[in-house]
Amino acid sequence: MLIIGNWKMAPEKKEQAITLSKKLNVLIKKYKSTDFVFCPPYIYLEGIKKQVKNLTLGAQKVSTSFEVANTSAISATMVKNIGAEYCIAGHSEVRAMGETDEMINQEILNLLEKKVKPIFCIGEIKRDTQGWYLSSIKDQIQKGLAGVTTAQLKNVVIAYEPVWAIGKNAEREATPVESMEMVIFIKKIIADLYDEKSSKNITILYGGSVNENNAKSFVTAGGANGLLIGRVSLDIKKFEILLKSIK
Ligand code: PGA
Repeated sequence: MLIIGNWKMAPEKKEQAITLSKKLNVLIKKYKSTDFVFCPPYIYLEGIKKQVKNLTLGAQKVSTSFEVANTSAISATMVKNIGAEYCIAGHSEVRAMGETDEMINQEILNLLEKKVKPIFCIGEIKRDTQGWYLSSIKDQIQKGLAGVTTAQLKNVVIAYEPVWAIGKNAEREATPVESMEMVIFIKKIIADLYDEKSSKNITILYGGSVNENNAKSFVTAGGANGLLIGRVSLDIKKFEILLKSIK
């Protein structure tokens, strides 16, 4: 099982990020059979890496480019050199700012080139009764993984995050049945694009309003190999209850 915490634009101070990391580091030691990755804002990566050595870290996004002339951007090389082993690509909050499937694909290729594992986020904006949401998922996967080889795919984690279920303004929580349907569908797409072995081995996470009450249902009936957790990964008390619930 793989649990990833996406801290987004929090916390506000480096000291808080270090304190949270230390607490998490103590807590996760009790869960030896689970892998954990935490994705703080870039500016805390180095501090956490220095003070909490064992924590596996991820960044939240990289640039599509390795060109220096890119004000405000962070390259896959920088993320690698600072010690991040993973990086999110295609988060819906970044897609909403205009990031395209082609850009996400380039980020994934850059990360793989630098041996950073992409956490490739996909998810429909809305559900409909005609199954159009399935086509949009297929499209995101095909475009996002263009040029990714079978060997490289072993280092890609897919996170299914229905956009309507993410964050405090979520329409509602997804159900485990909806998650299971999508896990099967994603595996089928991977089998068609690559082969059955890749489809069997791919790690698929569920994300979107995961909390201490619903986490277990997503990794059991929901069929997910783990979770991508936003808000609750910043709340040590709730995170601990969540971990106990899925043990
Ligand atoms: P949430 O965020 O758990 O706060 O809904 C999940 C995510 O956006 O990755």
